[in-house]
Amino acid sequence: MMSDALQHALDLDAQYAWPTYARKPVLFVRGSGMRLYDDDGAEYLDFVSGIGVVNLGHAHPAVARVVRTQVERLVHVSNLYHVEHRAELEERLCRLFGKPSRVFLCNSGTEAVEAAIKLARAWGRQARGDGCYRIVAAERSFHGRTYGALSATGQSAKQQKFAPLLPGFTHVPLNDVAALEEAVGEDVCAVLLEPVQGEGGVYPCTPEYLRAARALCDERGALLIFDEVQCGLWRTGPVFAHRAYGVEPDVMTLAKALANGLPAGAVLARDHVADILKPGDHGSTFAGGPVVCAAALATLDALESEHLGENAERAGAYLADALRALGERTGLVTDVRGRGLMVGVTLARPVARQVADAALERRILLNATSDDVLRFLPPLVCTESEIDTLMGVLEHILGEF
Ligand SMILES: Cc1ncc(COP(=O)(O)O)c(C=O)c1O
Repeated sequence: MMSDALQHALDLDAQYAWPTYARKPVLFVRGSGMRLYDDDGAEYLDFVSGIGVVNLGHAHPAVARVVRTQVERLVHVSNLYHVEHRAELEERLCRLFGKPSRVFLCNSGTEAVEAAIKLARAWGRQARGDGCYRIVAAERSFHGRTYGALSATGQSAKQQKFAPLLPGFTHVPLNDVAALEEAVGEDVCAVLLEPVQGEGGVYPCTPEYLRAARALCDERGALLIFDEVQCGLWRTGPVFAHRAYGVEPDVMTLAKALANGLPAGAVLARDHVADILKPGDHGSTFAGGPVVCAAALATLDALESEHLGENAERAGAYLADALRALGERTGLVTDVRGRGLMVGVTLARPVARQVADAALERRILLNATSDDVLRFLPPLVCTESEIDTLMGVLEHILGEF
Protein backbone atom coordinates (compact mmCIF):
# COMPACT_ATOMS: atom_id res chain seq x y z
CA MET A 1 0.00 0.00 0.00
CA MET A 2 1.31 3.37 -1.04
CA SER A 3 1.33 6.11 1.61
CA ASP A 4 -0.56 9.35 0.97
CA ALA A 5 2.69 11.29 0.97
CA LEU A 6 4.24 9.02 -1.68
CA GLN A 7 1.09 9.11 -3.81
CA HIS A 8 1.11 12.92 -3.58
CA ALA A 9 4.77 13.11 -4.63
CA LEU A 10 4.17 10.69 -7.52
CA ASP A 11 1.18 12.68 -8.77
CA LEU A 12 2.89 16.06 -8.61
CA ASP A 13 6.11 14.74 -10.15
CA ALA A 14 4.19 13.06 -12.98
CA GLN A 15 2.37 16.29 -13.72
CA TYR A 16 5.12 18.87 -13.28
CA ALA A 17 8.61 17.42 -13.65
CA TRP A 18 10.38 16.95 -16.99
CA PRO A 19 9.87 13.29 -17.82
CA THR A 20 13.61 12.60 -17.76
CA TYR A 21 13.65 10.18 -14.80
CA ALA A 22 11.93 6.86 -14.18
CA ARG A 23 11.83 7.21 -10.41
CA LYS A 24 11.07 4.22 -8.20
CA PRO A 25 7.90 4.41 -6.07
CA VAL A 26 9.50 5.11 -2.71
CA LEU A 27 9.84 8.30 -0.65
CA PHE A 28 12.94 8.48 1.52
CA VAL A 29 12.91 10.84 4.46
CA ARG A 30 15.93 9.91 6.58
CA GLY A 31 19.22 8.06 6.48
CA SER A 32 21.99 6.79 8.74
CA GLY A 33 25.15 5.07 7.51
CA MET A 34 24.18 2.24 5.13
CA ARG A 35 20.50 2.64 5.99
CA LEU A 36 17.65 4.68 4.51
CA TYR A 37 14.12 5.04 5.91
CA ASP A 38 10.96 5.71 3.93
CA ASP A 39 8.03 7.84 5.03
CA ASP A 40 6.43 4.80 6.68
CA GLY A 41 9.56 4.20 8.74
CA ALA A 42 10.60 1.08 6.79
CA GLU A 43 14.37 0.46 6.72
CA TYR A 44 16.37 -0.16 3.51
CA LEU A 45 19.98 -1.15 2.89
CA ASP A 46 21.62 1.20 0.41
CA PHE A 47 23.94 -0.37 -2.19
CA VAL A 48 23.73 2.69 -4.47
CA SER A 49 24.82 5.54 -2.13
CA GLY A 50 23.22 8.16 -4.34
CA ILE A 51 25.29 6.78 -7.27
CA GLY A 52 28.64 6.77 -5.53
CA VAL A 53 28.13 10.00 -3.61
CA VAL A 54 27.47 9.25 0.04
CA ASN A 55 30.77 7.47 0.62
CA LEU A 56 30.70 8.19 4.37
CA GLY A 57 27.16 6.88 4.68
CA HIS A 58 24.03 8.94 5.22
CA ALA A 59 23.85 11.76 7.76
CA HIS A 60 27.48 11.56 8.85
CA PRO A 61 27.62 13.56 12.13
CA ALA A 62 30.88 15.39 11.37
CA VAL A 63 29.59 16.66 8.02
CA ALA A 64 26.19 17.55 9.50
CA ARG A 65 27.89 19.52 12.27
CA VAL A 66 30.06 21.73 10.03
CA VAL A 67 27.21 22.31 7.57
CA ARG A 68 24.85 23.38 10.36
CA THR A 69 27.45 25.74 11.81
CA GLN A 70 28.37 27.26 8.45
CA VAL A 71 24.76 27.69 7.27
CA GLU A 72 24.04 29.75 10.37
CA ARG A 73 27.19 31.84 9.84
CA LEU A 74 27.44 32.62 6.09
CA VAL A 75 26.03 30.79 3.04
CA HIS A 76 27.04 32.66 -0.10
CA VAL A 77 29.20 35.58 -1.15
CA SER A 78 30.54 34.64 -4.64
CA ASN A 79 33.93 34.06 -6.17
CA LEU A 80 34.56 37.80 -6.20
CA TYR A 81 35.82 37.53 -2.61
CA HIS A 82 37.59 35.16 -0.27
CA VAL A 83 35.53 33.07 2.13
CA GLU A 84 36.42 30.66 4.90
CA HIS A 85 37.29 27.01 4.07
CA ARG A 86 37.81 27.50 0.29
CA ALA A 87 41.58 28.00 0.28
CA GLU A 88 42.04 25.12 2.77
CA LEU A 89 40.05 22.83 0.47
CA GLU A 90 42.09 23.96 -2.55
CA GLU A 91 45.32 23.19 -0.70
CA ARG A 92 43.99 19.85 0.55
CA LEU A 93 42.98 18.67 -2.91
CA CYS A 94 46.27 19.71 -4.50
CA ARG A 95 48.19 17.90 -1.76
CA LEU A 96 46.15 14.75 -2.36
CA PHE A 97 46.85 15.06 -6.09
CA GLY A 98 50.45 15.03 -4.99
CA LYS A 99 52.32 17.20 -7.47
CA PRO A 100 52.62 20.95 -8.12
CA SER A 101 49.07 21.65 -9.21
CA ARG A 102 46.12 24.01 -9.11
CA VAL A 103 42.43 23.30 -8.67
CA PHE A 104 39.20 24.80 -10.02
CA LEU A 105 36.17 24.19 -7.80
CA CYS A 106 32.77 23.57 -9.39
CA ASN A 107 29.41 22.02 -8.52
CA SER A 108 29.17 18.66 -10.30
CA GLY A 109 30.95 16.02 -12.33
CA THR A 110 29.64 17.38 -15.60
CA GLU A 111 30.98 20.81 -14.76
CA ALA A 112 34.34 19.35 -13.81
CA VAL A 113 34.61 17.57 -17.17
CA GLU A 114 33.43 20.68 -18.99
CA ALA A 115 36.17 22.72 -17.32
CA ALA A 116 38.74 20.03 -18.14
CA ILE A 117 37.72 20.14 -21.82
CA LYS A 118 38.05 23.93 -21.91
CA LEU A 119 41.44 23.76 -20.23
CA ALA A 120 42.67 21.04 -22.61
CA ARG A 121 41.65 23.05 -25.66
CA ALA A 122 43.12 26.29 -24.37
CA TRP A 123 46.32 24.43 -23.58
CA GLY A 124 46.39 22.69 -26.96
CA ARG A 125 46.00 25.99 -28.77
CA GLN A 126 48.72 27.68 -26.73
CA ALA A 127 51.20 24.80 -26.69
CA ARG A 128 50.69 23.39 -30.18
CA GLY A 129 48.60 25.76 -32.27
CA ASP A 130 45.01 26.37 -33.39
CA GLY A 131 44.50 22.97 -35.01
CA CYS A 132 45.22 21.06 -31.79
CA TYR A 133 41.80 20.64 -30.19
CA ARG A 134 40.72 17.01 -30.63
CA ILE A 135 40.00 14.92 -27.53
CA VAL A 136 40.17 11.14 -27.59
CA ALA A 137 37.83 9.35 -25.19
CA ALA A 138 36.63 5.77 -24.74
CA GLU A 139 33.60 4.01 -26.10
CA ARG A 140 30.99 3.28 -23.40
CA SER A 141 32.44 6.10 -21.25
CA PHE A 142 30.26 8.55 -19.35
CA HIS A 143 31.40 12.11 -18.67
CA GLY A 144 28.17 14.07 -18.18
CA ARG A 145 25.22 15.72 -19.86
CA THR A 146 26.17 19.23 -20.98
CA TYR A 147 27.31 19.63 -24.58
CA GLY A 148 31.03 19.29 -23.96
CA ALA A 149 30.71 16.47 -21.45
CA LEU A 150 28.03 14.76 -23.56
CA SER A 151 30.21 15.00 -26.66
CA ALA A 152 33.03 13.36 -24.69
CA THR A 153 30.69 10.58 -23.57
CA GLY A 154 31.06 7.42 -25.64
CA GLN A 155 27.39 6.36 -25.69
CA SER A 156 25.44 7.27 -28.82
CA ALA A 157 22.08 6.42 -27.20
CA LYS A 158 22.54 9.37 -24.83
CA GLN A 159 23.60 11.70 -27.66
CA GLN A 160 21.39 11.06 -30.70
CA LYS A 161 18.45 13.29 -29.76
CA PHE A 162 20.69 16.25 -29.12
CA ALA A 163 22.81 16.45 -32.27
CA PRO A 164 24.78 18.27 -33.45
CA LEU A 165 27.29 17.73 -30.69
CA LEU A 166 30.53 19.59 -30.16
CA PRO A 167 33.04 18.73 -32.90
CA GLY A 168 36.49 17.32 -32.18
CA PHE A 169 35.87 14.13 -30.20
CA THR A 170 37.04 10.64 -31.19
CA HIS A 171 35.97 7.49 -29.35
CA VAL A 172 38.09 4.36 -29.21
CA PRO A 173 37.42 0.91 -27.73
CA LEU A 174 38.61 0.69 -24.12
CA ASN A 175 41.80 -1.26 -23.40
CA ASP A 176 42.80 -1.40 -27.08
CA VAL A 177 46.30 0.13 -27.20
CA ALA A 178 46.59 -0.06 -31.00
CA ALA A 179 43.33 1.86 -31.48
CA LEU A 180 44.54 4.54 -29.06
CA GLU A 181 47.89 4.83 -30.87
CA GLU A 182 46.08 5.32 -34.13
CA ALA A 183 43.70 7.94 -32.73
CA VAL A 184 46.25 10.21 -31.04
CA GLY A 185 47.43 12.33 -33.94
CA GLU A 186 48.84 15.85 -34.32
CA ASP A 187 45.45 17.46 -33.67
CA VAL A 188 44.89 15.74 -30.30
CA CYS A 189 45.22 17.96 -27.22
CA ALA A 190 44.07 15.35 -24.69
CA VAL A 191 43.15 11.74 -23.95
CA LEU A 192 40.25 11.51 -21.49
CA LEU A 193 39.65 8.25 -19.59
CA GLU A 194 37.80 6.93 -16.55
CA PRO A 195 40.33 4.58 -14.88
CA VAL A 196 37.26 2.50 -13.98
CA GLN A 197 34.26 3.18 -16.20
CA GLY A 198 31.17 3.57 -14.04
CA GLU A 199 27.92 4.37 -15.85
CA GLY A 200 29.05 2.23 -18.78
CA GLY A 201 28.78 -0.87 -16.56
CA VAL A 202 31.91 -0.90 -14.33
CA TYR A 203 34.77 -1.70 -16.70
CA PRO A 204 38.27 -1.09 -15.29
CA CYS A 205 41.11 -0.02 -17.57
CA THR A 206 43.91 -2.56 -17.74
CA PRO A 207 47.27 -1.43 -16.28
CA GLU A 208 48.92 -1.86 -19.71
CA TYR A 209 46.32 0.42 -21.26
CA LEU A 210 46.78 3.27 -18.78
CA ARG A 211 50.57 2.94 -19.00
CA ALA A 212 50.39 3.04 -22.79
CA ALA A 213 48.08 6.07 -22.65
CA ARG A 214 50.59 7.90 -20.44
CA ALA A 215 53.52 7.03 -22.70
CA LEU A 216 51.60 8.01 -25.82
CA CYS A 217 50.53 11.37 -24.36
CA ASP A 218 54.13 12.10 -23.35
CA GLU A 219 55.47 11.11 -26.76
CA ARG A 220 52.90 13.08 -28.76
CA GLY A 221 52.54 16.09 -26.45
CA ALA A 222 48.92 15.55 -25.37
CA LEU A 223 47.42 15.88 -21.89
CA LEU A 224 46.24 12.79 -20.05
CA ILE A 225 42.97 13.51 -18.24
CA PHE A 226 41.48 11.05 -15.76
CA ASP A 227 37.79 11.40 -14.96
CA GLU A 228 37.68 10.18 -11.35
CA VAL A 229 34.22 11.62 -10.67
CA GLN A 230 32.92 8.16 -9.79
CA CYS A 231 36.02 6.06 -9.07
CA GLY A 232 37.92 8.70 -7.06
CA LEU A 233 37.99 9.50 -3.33
CA TRP A 234 38.72 6.02 -1.94
CA ARG A 235 35.82 4.34 -3.76
CA THR A 236 38.20 1.72 -5.20
CA GLY A 237 40.63 1.63 -2.23
CA PRO A 238 43.36 4.23 -2.86
CA VAL A 239 42.48 7.93 -2.75
CA PHE A 240 42.32 7.96 -6.56
CA ALA A 241 41.75 4.86 -8.68
CA HIS A 242 44.78 5.72 -10.84
CA ARG A 243 47.14 5.30 -7.83
CA ALA A 244 46.69 1.52 -7.98
CA TYR A 245 47.94 1.64 -11.58
CA GLY A 246 51.01 3.79 -10.86
CA VAL A 247 50.04 6.11 -13.74
CA GLU A 248 49.65 9.83 -13.04
CA PRO A 249 47.45 12.15 -15.11
CA ASP A 250 48.04 15.81 -16.00
CA VAL A 251 44.44 16.72 -15.24
CA MET A 252 41.85 14.99 -13.04
CA THR A 253 38.16 15.57 -12.40
CA LEU A 254 36.38 14.84 -9.10
CA ALA A 255 32.82 15.32 -7.84
CA LYS A 256 30.24 12.88 -6.41
CA ALA A 257 31.75 11.92 -3.01
CA LEU A 258 33.63 15.17 -2.48
CA ALA A 259 31.15 16.72 -0.01
CA ASN A 260 29.22 13.51 0.87
CA GLY A 261 26.06 14.66 -0.90
CA LEU A 262 26.32 18.41 -1.19
CA PRO A 263 26.98 19.50 -4.79
CA ALA A 264 30.73 19.78 -5.23
CA GLY A 265 33.18 19.14 -8.02
CA ALA A 266 36.83 19.90 -8.74
CA VAL A 267 39.32 19.82 -11.59
CA LEU A 268 42.97 19.45 -10.72
CA ALA A 269 45.68 20.30 -13.21
CA ARG A 270 49.43 20.32 -13.05
CA ASP A 271 50.44 23.92 -12.52
CA HIS A 272 52.21 24.46 -15.86
CA VAL A 273 48.91 23.50 -17.54
CA ALA A 274 46.58 25.52 -15.29
CA ASP A 275 48.89 28.53 -15.46
CA ILE A 276 47.85 29.25 -19.05
CA LEU A 277 44.48 30.55 -17.75
CA LYS A 278 43.80 34.08 -16.57
CA PRO A 279 40.98 35.83 -14.66
CA GLY A 280 37.73 35.68 -16.63
CA ASP A 281 38.55 32.49 -18.56
CA HIS A 282 36.23 30.32 -16.46
CA GLY A 283 33.96 30.69 -13.47
CA SER A 284 30.89 29.68 -11.48
CA THR A 285 28.48 31.63 -9.28
CA PHE A 286 27.92 28.95 -6.65
CA ALA A 287 31.13 26.92 -6.66
CA GLY A 288 33.55 27.09 -3.75
CA GLY A 289 31.00 28.48 -1.32
CA PRO A 290 31.79 28.19 2.38
CA VAL A 291 29.10 25.60 3.20
CA VAL A 292 30.18 23.14 0.51
CA CYS A 293 33.88 23.70 1.20
CA ALA A 294 33.39 23.09 4.93
CA ALA A 295 31.44 19.92 4.09
CA ALA A 296 34.16 18.76 1.68
CA LEU A 297 36.93 19.28 4.26
CA ALA A 298 34.93 17.36 6.89
CA THR A 299 34.23 14.62 4.33
CA LEU A 300 37.90 14.22 3.38
CA ASP A 301 38.89 14.20 7.09
CA ALA A 302 36.38 11.45 7.89
CA LEU A 303 37.17 9.34 4.82
CA GLU A 304 40.84 9.38 5.86
CA SER A 305 40.48 9.04 9.64
CA GLU A 306 37.95 6.20 9.35
CA HIS A 307 40.29 4.41 6.89
CA LEU A 308 37.39 3.88 4.49
CA GLY A 309 39.69 3.22 1.53
CA GLU A 310 40.96 0.14 3.36
CA ASN A 311 37.39 -0.93 4.07
CA ALA A 312 36.50 -0.36 0.41
CA GLU A 313 39.24 -2.80 -0.59
CA ARG A 314 38.36 -5.39 2.05
CA ALA A 315 34.57 -5.22 1.69
CA GLY A 316 34.85 -4.93 -2.10
CA ALA A 317 36.86 -8.17 -2.29
CA TYR A 318 34.32 -9.88 -0.02
CA LEU A 319 31.44 -8.64 -2.19
CA ALA A 320 33.11 -9.70 -5.45
CA ASP A 321 33.90 -13.17 -4.04
CA ALA A 322 30.32 -13.56 -2.80
CA LEU A 323 28.96 -12.54 -6.21
CA ARG A 324 31.24 -15.04 -7.96
CA ALA A 325 30.08 -17.80 -5.62
CA LEU A 326 26.47 -16.78 -6.27
CA GLY A 327 27.17 -16.97 -9.99
CA GLU A 328 28.50 -20.51 -9.61
CA ARG A 329 25.47 -21.58 -7.60
CA THR A 330 22.84 -20.01 -9.86
CA GLY A 331 24.51 -19.98 -13.29
CA LEU A 332 22.99 -16.53 -13.76
CA VAL A 333 26.14 -14.41 -13.38
CA THR A 334 28.55 -14.44 -16.31
CA ASP A 335 31.07 -11.81 -15.15
CA VAL A 336 32.05 -10.03 -11.92
CA ARG A 337 34.44 -7.07 -12.22
CA GLY A 338 35.47 -3.84 -10.59
CA ARG A 339 37.77 -2.41 -7.97
CA GLY A 340 37.07 -1.85 -4.28
CA LEU A 341 33.43 -1.01 -3.66
CA MET A 342 32.75 -0.30 -7.33
CA VAL A 343 31.54 -3.66 -8.57
CA GLY A 344 29.60 -4.67 -11.68
CA VAL A 345 28.12 -8.01 -12.68
CA THR A 346 26.83 -9.14 -16.03
CA LEU A 347 23.81 -11.41 -15.83
CA ALA A 348 23.24 -14.31 -18.20
CA ARG A 349 19.79 -12.90 -19.01
CA PRO A 350 18.59 -9.30 -19.55
CA VAL A 351 16.81 -9.10 -16.19
CA ALA A 352 19.01 -6.60 -14.31
CA ARG A 353 16.26 -3.97 -14.06
CA GLN A 354 13.75 -6.52 -12.78
CA VAL A 355 16.31 -7.76 -10.24
CA ALA A 356 16.86 -4.20 -8.98
CA ASP A 357 13.09 -3.66 -8.70
CA ALA A 358 12.64 -6.95 -6.85
CA ALA A 359 15.49 -5.99 -4.49
CA LEU A 360 13.77 -2.69 -3.71
CA GLU A 361 10.62 -4.59 -2.77
CA ARG A 362 12.82 -6.49 -0.32
CA ARG A 363 14.25 -3.17 0.89
CA ILE A 364 17.63 -3.21 -0.76
CA LEU A 365 18.71 -0.44 -3.14
CA LEU A 366 20.54 -1.70 -6.22
CA ASN A 367 21.26 -0.10 -9.57
CA ALA A 368 21.11 -1.58 -13.07
CA THR A 369 23.30 0.25 -15.62
CA SER A 370 21.74 -1.68 -18.53
CA ASP A 371 19.40 -4.60 -19.13
CA ASP A 372 22.06 -7.11 -18.11
CA VAL A 373 24.44 -5.26 -15.75
CA LEU A 374 23.96 -4.68 -12.03
CA ARG A 375 26.18 -2.16 -10.30
CA PHE A 376 27.06 -2.18 -6.59
CA LEU A 377 28.20 1.15 -5.11
CA PRO A 378 27.47 1.03 -1.38
CA PRO A 379 28.76 3.64 1.06
CA LEU A 380 32.35 2.80 2.00
CA VAL A 381 31.23 1.96 5.55
CA CYS A 382 29.60 -1.22 4.21
CA THR A 383 30.23 -4.32 6.39
CA GLU A 384 30.47 -8.02 5.59
CA SER A 385 27.26 -8.72 7.44
CA GLU A 386 25.40 -6.18 5.28
CA ILE A 387 26.87 -7.87 2.21
CA ASP A 388 25.64 -11.21 3.59
CA THR A 389 22.14 -9.73 3.86
CA LEU A 390 22.38 -8.53 0.25
CA MET A 391 23.54 -11.93 -0.95
CA GLY A 392 20.64 -13.70 0.79
CA VAL A 393 18.16 -11.40 -0.96
CA LEU A 394 19.92 -11.70 -4.34
CA GLU A 395 20.04 -15.49 -4.11
CA HIS A 396 16.30 -15.54 -3.45
CA ILE A 397 15.55 -13.15 -6.35
CA LEU A 398 17.82 -14.91 -8.85
CA GLY A 399 16.19 -18.18 -7.79
CA GLU A 400 12.87 -16.78 -8.99
CA PHE A 401 14.33 -16.01 -12.42
C1 LIG B 1 32.84 9.38 -14.54
C2 LIG B 1 31.76 10.41 -14.48
N1 LIG B 1 31.99 11.63 -15.00
C3 LIG B 1 31.06 12.60 -14.96
C4 LIG B 1 29.81 12.37 -14.42
C5 LIG B 1 28.79 13.46 -14.37
O1 LIG B 1 28.64 13.88 -13.04
P1 LIG B 1 27.34 14.71 -12.56
O2 LIG B 1 26.17 13.82 -12.66
O3 LIG B 1 27.70 15.11 -11.15
O4 LIG B 1 27.24 15.90 -13.42
C6 LIG B 1 29.52 11.11 -13.88
C7 LIG B 1 28.21 10.81 -13.31
O5 LIG B 1 27.80 9.70 -13.12
C8 LIG B 1 30.52 10.10 -13.92
O6 LIG B 1 30.30 8.87 -13.42
